[in-house]
Amino acid sequence: MVSRVIPVDPFDLVIFGGTGDLARRKILPGLYRRFLAGQMPEEARVIGAARSEMSDDDYRAMIGQSIREFVARGKQDEEAIGKFLARVHYVAIDATGEAGWKALKAATRKDVIQVVYFSVAPSLFGPLAERLHQKGIACATCRIVVEKPFGRDLATARALNGTLAEHFHENQIYRIDHYLGKETVQNLMAVRFGNMLFEPLWNAQYVDHIQITAAETVGVGGRGSYYDKSGAMRDMVQNHLMQLLCLIAMEPPSQFEPDAVRDEKLKVIRALDPVAPEEIVRGQYQPNGAAPGYRQDVQNAESLTESFIAMRLHVSNWRWKGTPFYLRTGKKLKARASEIAVVFKDPPHSIFGQQEGRRGNVLAIKLQPNEGMTLRVTIKEPGPGGMRLVEVPLDMSFAEALGPNGTDIPDAYERLVMDVVRGNQTLFMRDDEVEAAWAWADPVIAGWEERGDRPCAYEPGSAGPEEAQILMHRDGRRWREIRE
Ligand code: BG6
Repeated sequence: MVSRVIPVDPFDLVIFGGTGDLARRKILPGLYRRFLAGQMPEEARVIGAARSEMSDDDYRAMIGQSIREFVARGKQDEEAIGKFLARVHYVAIDATGEAGWKALKAATRKDVIQVVYFSVAPSLFGPLAERLHQKGIACATCRIVVEKPFGRDLATARALNGTLAEHFHENQIYRIDHYLGKETVQNLMAVRFGNMLFEPLWNAQYVDHIQITAAETVGVGGRGSYYDKSGAMRDMVQNHLMQLLCLIAMEPPSQFEPDAVRDEKLKVIRALDPVAPEEIVRGQYQPNGAAPGYRQDVQNAESLTESFIAMRLHVSNWRWKGTPFYLRTGKKLKARASEIAVVFKDPPHSIFGQQEGRRGNVLAIKLQPNEGMTLRVTIKEPGPGGMRLVEVPLDMSFAEALGPNGTDIPDAYERLVMDVVRGNQTLFMRDDEVEAAWAWADPVIAGWEERGDRPCAYEPGSAGPEEAQILMHRDGRRWREIRE
């Protein structure tokens, strides 16, 4: 199978926060991989912009280092790294002051695609948007890329949308949710809407429930002060898990086209019921021997913020009435594993009588690691002795099915940045979508804050608090195991 690389038009990509973690770990290594694949045209330029004084050469040395650290060894070609770095420049700039803006204007061109990436604290989004215009840098077609967190509630998200809208049209604004750039997430749409097999069964009549899990083994690391003000609900559920839920639950859009897809996702968010307190379990990881617990990690001995959350959601529309969606995500869990599992109902009548251990079909879509899909089916156990049924997986790992193209999956950021250059907003969130997600999340968060709910304790390396298991058991169901 030959992968087709569609070259993009020449562009200038300015990255505010060019020396930051995201730029060094994800954005620039991703661009290098696109360069290696032949997708970056000769005339493309990347301009890192940040506060520190630094020459082009210093910046190139820094980015060269990042590429060697974050790009797979097999893709590190010194000659190619050199050629890529020749396209990289640096401008020292004060986002809220005067310094550097003239230099930035001189460094950008008006006759190529212009993209400005705001990889900075949200408090700078407004001032940057304003200055890009004031200083005559943003051209009429300039696209801006905005990182999360996009607000911390409906009011702040609205205010942010308002500020950006003063300077940019909605079709110039690319709000990133990197989960939408993951290969398997897009495959979800291909599976649903490119096959006849699944869609007729994709509703409350045939689906018993859906599980969405995003489990991590890492703790909050060095991001304690941000995380303690957010928690798993704001950090993961309101954005990443909500987007996955939308793709699973939405109606088929008329075309794979930005507004058609985003209209359908919006309808799902608006159809979500409020969540009752007994449908939510929040947790905090505990210390483990010498390893600090959540409260030590965030240096807040009184913290009531959750590092784990599990919840049951209901989408009140014709398709899904009666089918619960169970979501869970957490830090310091037993494995790094993200998947969506569609659990189908049992056949209405068993012609084989009651057999131990039989369960319905499950379609599991594995987002990471080891991207792939499994369909659990029931077959006859081989051999004589009557009709004994067993369950077997029909396994499809992308790496095996697609050969080299299946293992060389682009990173989410790599794909999304190229989508911005191409002007394709399908995998980016629209203003109304973000606001609807906050409008759903706000009362849920306000509920536990008003009640003063305390998160349940869980052991690091476990599957989360026991109460999360009970949430499922009460409904006669169980979570799938968290494993790589
Ligand atoms: C980020 C969150 O958006 O997503 C992090 O802020 C989280 O807390 C990360 O660790 C998870 O991303 P991924 O791609 O590793 O699943």
